[in-house]
Amino acid sequence: MQKLSIHGGVPLSGEVRVAGAKNASLPILAAALLTAEPVRVSNVPELNDVGTMIRLLERMGVAARRTPHAVDLDASAVSQPFAPYELVKTMRASILALGPLTARFGEARVSLPGGCAIGERPVDLHIKGLAAMGATIAIEAGYIHATASRLQGARVFMETVTVTGTENLMMAACLARGETVLENAAREPEVVDLARCLIAMGARIKGHGTDVITIEGVERLHGVEHAVMPDRIEAGTFLAAAAATRGDVTLAKAPVASLDAVLEKLREAGARIDVGADFIRLRMGARPKSVSIRTAPYPGFPTDMQAQFIALNAVAEGTAFVTETIFENRFMHVQELRRLGAAIDIEGNTALVHGVEKLTGAAVMATDLRASASLVIAGLVAEGETVIDRIYHLDRGYERIEARLGQLGARIARVS
Ligand code: UD1
Repeated sequence: MQKLSIHGGVPLSGEVRVAGAKNASLPILAAALLTAEPVRVSNVPELNDVGTMIRLLERMGVAARRTPHAVDLDASAVSQPFAPYELVKTMRASILALGPLTARFGEARVSLPGGCAIGERPVDLHIKGLAAMGATIAIEAGYIHATASRLQGARVFMETVTVTGTENLMMAACLARGETVLENAAREPEVVDLARCLIAMGARIKGHGTDVITIEGVERLHGVEHAVMPDRIEAGTFLAAAAATRGDVTLAKAPVASLDAVLEKLREAGARIDVGADFIRLRMGARPKSVSIRTAPYPGFPTDMQAQFIALNAVAEGTAFVTETIFENRFMHVQELRRLGAAIDIEGNTALVHGVEKLTGAAVMATDLRASASLVIAGLVAEGETVIDRIYHLDRGYERIEARLGQLGARIARVS
């Protein structure tokens, strides 16, 4: 099994280009199910999760052709509106097939995701929303079986803000009869990117980026060429790594507008940040100061950046409170960070991070995608060698991380 070896202590420096957003690519690829015409998606990152989504679509009968950073899809001959457990269990975002399949084919059989490393993560709101739109839903042998002759527009209130839930229902509503209003909708930039792609396919959507999205259903959608937005979480991870190593890093093609909460916290930590239309330069001249964080739906501080900021706080001056409000059980990186010398206590959903002068390299294990990113940051700071096991978690969300951090001067290598 492959591992990542890092010899820490080098301040990151130089320029790196931000890849396309994983969490925008996945729903946009699923949106190809909504039309019989060709769809071309570009600026798609080369990630395991993208490969899983393409395999899932291919199993349904979608013709897919992948070229570097682009995917051509043709869903004119879908034979099986079915998402099997083997694929859904490796990637929860497979649930994004449910809405489009039900809307276009009147039927979907999608496995329930089951347990996952970062908590319970139910999909009840996806199901309730589709039911409100007139789908008949049965849970059979671990599968969601949805049927509908044609979905009907409806008013859907989601009691919790859910990103993929909002995306699923927005896609389904595009082909429903009449108007759908999604209340307490997710405002995440990836939802907005999906909405833009759907609008380019002929969908009638208003209010994306706010918490009330209105969709007027149409008879059919047409083909599209869409370039995916840059990945704000990847960008934030590079910036946190630059700050923790006291580096000087410029991100090119950065999703500047979607990073406000993260940039604000990096400034509070003492970083000097210059921003242009699509670049961000971060300079950190001294030891970072600790910054307290509370995760929240967008535009709040993203849960997907929580682990990386625990790593940053681990070497900062002072004590930080990091409160996770979105997912229970999302502190698994803490145990591993402690192996590197971090001083962190957990009380309920808050981690108390007492900054230490230095971390020391050790063998650690990645437990989930963002947890693994926090271990990389800690490894970049630690004295000596850090070896990270189970880096397939990292490959789900970061494209060629060792090459790109290597470009910034990090001493990092993939080893068997
Ligand atoms: C998406 C992102 C993930 C990110 C998360 C929160 C993708 C592919 N993944 O995940 O990287 O960490 O948003 O920003 O975009 N919930 C329910 N019922 C539901 C659905 C969700 O109770 O039917 C709860 C969840 O348990 C969680 C909260 O809502 O507590 C938010 O989850 P959600 O936004 O749905 O996360 P995902 O869309 O799975």
